[in-house]
Amino acid sequence: MSLHLPRRHLFGAALAGLLARQAAAQGGEGLAAIARDNGITFGTAVDSTKLGDATYAAQLVAEAQLLVPEWEAKWAALQPRQGTFDFSPLGSIASFAQAHGKQLRGHALVWHEAMPPWLTESLAEGAAKARSLLAAHLDGVLPATRPAIRDWDVVNEAVANSEGNPFTARTPAQGDLRDTPWLRALGPGYIEEAFRAARERDRTLRLTYNDYGLEGDTPWVEEKRQRVLRLLRRLVGAQCPVDALGLQAHLLMDEPFRPEPFAAFLRAVRELGLAVLVTELDVREARQLPAGLPARDAAVAGRVRQVIGTALEQGCRTVLTWGLSDKDSWLAREPDVMRKDGQVHRGLPLDDAGARKAMWQALVTAFGTRRG
Ligand code: XIL
Repeated sequence: MSLHLPRRHLFGAALAGLLARQAAAQGGEGLAAIARDNGITFGTAVDSTKLGDATYAAQLVAEAQLLVPEWEAKWAALQPRQGTFDFSPLGSIASFAQAHGKQLRGHALVWHEAMPPWLTESLAEGAAKARSLLAAHLDGVLPATRPAIRDWDVVNEAVANSEGNPFTARTPAQGDLRDTPWLRALGPGYIEEAFRAARERDRTLRLTYNDYGLEGDTPWVEEKRQRVLRLLRRLVGAQCPVDALGLQAHLLMDEPFRPEPFAAFLRAVRELGLAVLVTELDVREARQLPAGLPARDAAVAGRVRQVIGTALEQGCRTVLTWGLSDKDSWLAREPDVMRKDGQVHRGLPLDDAGARKAMWQALVTAFGTRRG
């Protein structure tokens, strides 16, 4: 089986190319080109169902060099029924990427969410079953996506949130790890098993561990950073083939930020020989909003400049946002992360109408200050 590349988006793609050239002529270079000029790869999450929308497609073409499927490469999308793989939604993103010379990364092979119900049930049958399901999923997915995807989030969000965090749901934990169906089936070694299984199937893939809640300056964020470091040290110490840490960077304006503790964490990760990527950047605005859109956008931009600037200073070379325009963001539609006051978070580089906001400029500024 291989990743079928449907051609149905190619006409839309040609139109998007035209629109992107027009947009570039009006508004100057996009983030993709500006990042590239600074030795950085910039990208964004993509929703396959929106690729037929010419404005959406044009924004991707103009701004992003690297695409990551927002849903289409999760387990429930790829193997909705046991043994039946569906590559068509991912294929439409792959064909769009190919038509426009964009790269693709994969998200996510092992995660406690986006699991089809059959998987959750089968994992409860124990370790042998879990191991064979993991092997079958990787056998189904990695060879098929090999030509298009060279970098996968192998394990997503395996570390538990620490006590005292008022912004994020408490997660059941076993030691440092989140209590998930994978942990229950295979024990804490499941993470290492997943990385080894991925490497066995493709020696040239970049294998990433991805997680959230690692950027802020609070005791609970620091504790989570230490948990992630303990995990990464354990993996590297066991010669487990992990190549990179993905920082989701779903930033929270209500959480304080200071560069130094974040930088110290990134230095420790880099000292383990791992690359650092920012994989899902967006910003949830404060509960108490600053007055007026310019002040709101300036606050978001200031935080992005600090966080991304710090990451780039510490050797991060890849930055992806979780969407480009506020109107397409999960922050505008998912109950867990939406605002409760009827306002819509302005946490992405483009506003609802596609205009570049202060956050867009903050990314440009951050790209220009990276360590030489
Ligand atoms: C989110 C998507 O944006 C939503 O559309 C979906 O309903 C749930 O997942 N961390 C991750 C992403 O690793 O996969 C999540 O994406 C956002 C949080």
